[in-house]
Amino acid sequence: MKIDPWSSANYQDYARLRDEFGIEEFTEDDWKDLPHPHKLLRRGIVFGHRNFEQVHDAIRKKKPWAILTGLMPSGKMHLGHKMVIDEVIYYQSIGADIFIAVADIEAFATRGLTLEETKALAVNEYIKNYIALGLKPENCHIYLQSENQDVKDMAYTLAKKINWSTMVATYGFDGSTNMAHIFSPLVQTGDILHVQLEKYGGVRPTLVPVGVDQDPHIRLSRDIAQAHRLYNVTVTKDNKIGVFVKVDKDVEKLLDNAEEILYKLNFKELKRIADYKAIYIQKAKEEDIPKIDELLAKSETKFGGYGFIQPSSTYHRFITGLTGDKMSSSKPESAIFLTDPPKIAAKKIMNAKTGGAVSLEAQKKEGGKPDECMVYELFLYHLIEKDKELQEIHTSCKNGQRMCGNCKKYAVQLMEKLLVDLQEKRKTAEGKIKQYLS
Ligand code: TRP
Ligand code: SF4
Repeated sequence: MKIDPWSSANYQDYARLRDEFGIEEFTEDDWKDLPHPHKLLRRGIVFGHRNFEQVHDAIRKKKPWAILTGLMPSGKMHLGHKMVIDEVIYYQSIGADIFIAVADIEAFATRGLTLEETKALAVNEYIKNYIALGLKPENCHIYLQSENQDVKDMAYTLAKKINWSTMVATYGFDGSTNMAHIFSPLVQTGDILHVQLEKYGGVRPTLVPVGVDQDPHIRLSRDIAQAHRLYNVTVTKDNKIGVFVKVDKDVEKLLDNAEEILYKLNFKELKRIADYKAIYIQKAKEEDIPKIDELLAKSETKFGGYGFIQPSSTYHRFITGLTGDKMSSSKPESAIFLTDPPKIAAKKIMNAKTGGAVSLEAQKKEGGKPDECMVYELFLYHLIEKDKELQEIHTSCKNGQRMCGNCKKYAVQLMEKLLVDLQEKRKTAEGKIKQYLS
């Protein structure tokens, strides 16, 4: 199986995706001691991650960390697009530095939009809604790929460590793919890694919350980050922990530096073998690797390296469209747009596919199927904050006490509240946009 980030496929077999690509399951242990964990995290909608632990650790220890995500405008913003920004707003509330890339170069290269069209869509549609949804300007930077010279420079220089075969294997490119398209994952890597440059806050854990279709870019960014490191810390064949210098310049100085750091971490029994460009640590365990690696990474900038910490990621499920297939801007009846007038949204909800039985009679007897119901999904993802209330809806639906007609009306009511609130807040958003754009 291959994930194509530019196709409109709906990757939904989440367990298989985890298995096949080595994505970790996102479980209760990952969220339960975060401050006021967000519903998307609590409810299994965020289903997978790569190295979330490192971010979790930074949150726990109140150390700096960053969020970087991106958007490629494709028409109007709908509930599916809202999820990632809900996550971002949550992470902002618990102390993350926020960076949001407007992928105008990617849209130009892969969707045939001009840079101007992308910018207009991003500003008038997405950013306005982000502000209305509650994104704050403090520690928040929204930028256009085409206007960020550092991101573009990074894309070019980082590309040195990736070859054509890897790009073909990862993305399925061939001789007919245009070069701008081929280059766009490298620009995305520039997005993801530039936040660790000194100018943007320095080396620190970075979380990239995305849909799973973006995982190839995450793998690429993680590989590239690792490839640019000057040190590598691993378990050796004879089960020791070793620090290896990966470059040929300044080897002695790098070994001295590593020794000093290991000493400070209280690893005193070290065996340095210059010929192997290595230091073996006698009493370290595998669990010690992240903290050793983090300090080594941070020191690499002194030797002309980047010292990137491999970015972490989380993956959220896609919300199903109201019609039962994909929620898509190109099928208005499948999606609720954040700018939909409440009456229009109400109509879409009343026509939505539910998990109800064929007749009222049958539903009273057999119950409904909330897990196959698009209205329930609205509650789950967007409309109901309290887990207890959600649970009650689930139970009363399953045991046949709840009927679809009233249930939809309730969803309509809640949706109207949400949309009217956004409508109000969008009115003042326009004047604030400048505070976000860097
Ligand atoms: N490729 C993303 C999309 O299609 C947009 C994007 C650009 C992005 N840069 C990013 C996502 C960096 C996450 C991180 O929607
Ligand atoms: Fe869905 Fe509500 Fe009908 Fe249950 S009662 S199937 S949750 S609409």
